[in-house]
Amino acid sequence: MNPYFEFPPVSLSVDYPCPAGRILDIGGGGEGVIGRLHGARVVAADLRLDELTETPPGPRKVVLDARRLPFAAGSFAAATAFFSLMYLNEARDQLAVLLETARVLPPGAELPLWEVDLARLPHTEQRVFVLPLHIRAGDAEISTSYGALLPPLPHGKAHYQRLAAAAGFRPLRSERQGNTFHLVFTRVHLIL
Ligand SMILES: C[S@@+](CC[C@H](N)C(=O)[O-])C[C@H]1O[C@@H](n2cnc3c(N)ncnc32)[C@H](O)[C@@H]1O
Repeated sequence: MNPYFEFPPVSLSVDYPCPAGRILDIGGGGEGVIGRLHGARVVAADLRLDELTETPPGPRKVVLDARRLPFAAGSFAAATAFFSLMYLNEARDQLAVLLETARVLPPGAELPLWEVDLARLPHTEQRVFVLPLHIRAGDAEISTSYGALLPPLPHGKAHYQRLAAAAGFRPLRSERQGNTFHLVFTRVHLIL
């Protein structure tokens, strides 16, 4: 038996035209997809040095815990999280990341997320899931798999929209591709 639950493979074209300025890429290690698209404008922020070591050159690489960002308020033009929030198993940790992200963005800045849709958790005894992906990003063609622990509760689009709203983001648009979704939020002007 496989040691993990495997979702059907997904093909994704990633093309995110960020505004001018610095982009904070949360969990930006590994394949470093956003760094490949936007190069030196990207700060690839990852908890793990080994993940950042694998990432192709281009972005500025910083080891950190995105639950506490060592950056000034409003210091990035946009933030991205490409299959990163699912690595934080607990909703309170995901919320901490989103609150910190809201702090380092100015009002009106965008936060695009890409995530595996875990709205309906698979009926399985396995604790880990894997999603095989084929990604086209600029000139790069990347075949990879992202895997993480299945969360204790469903984490679908509504889950991320709820957390983002609590952190001060408003949804702009969303798209589905296979078992994944791409959500774009904007930082609201007033956080109450
Ligand atoms: C699947 S990888 C993301 C893939 C990556 N964005 C890419 O383009 O290939 C998830 C990353 O999130 C990172 N991560 C998990 N928790 C984190 C945290 N609290 N702060 C920063 N990065 C974190 C992991 O170390 C891992 O490298």
